[in-house]
Amino acid sequence: MNRFGRSSLDLLERLLHLPRMPRVKFLPSGFETDIQVGTSLVDLTDEYPEAEVPYSCRSASCGTCRVQVKEGKEALSAMDDDEQEVIEIFGDDRGDVRLCCQIRLEKDCEKLVLEVCDP
Ligand code: FES
Repeated sequence: MNRFGRSSLDLLERLLHLPRMPRVKFLPSGFETDIQVGTSLVDLTDEYPEAEVPYSCRSASCGTCRVQVKEGKEALSAMDDDEQEVIEIFGDDRGDVRLCCQIRLEKDCEKLVLEVCDP
């Protein structure tokens, strides 16, 4: 970060008018990276284990990978019935909890912030 609160790469992209990729940040690890529209979050976190999202079944059965979507919810793929069922079992009725193994970034957005839920 520079004194304007932006990274040098961010400023360079703006100066050159290059298209920007959305950023994704994981909490509580604080790990942050770019994410291309169309990417599944499980593929991204397999590539970057430092995101520290725990997985078990990877098929919307166990609920291990529950994350609270703090920013960017509208840019994610829709929830299907299997995912909804698991979320309900865990009583996460805030409307912003998703299974990280089931979500994909489907639209451009400024930033996606995901916080791993307590087990
Ligand atoms: S890893 Fe089991 S529901 Fe996502």
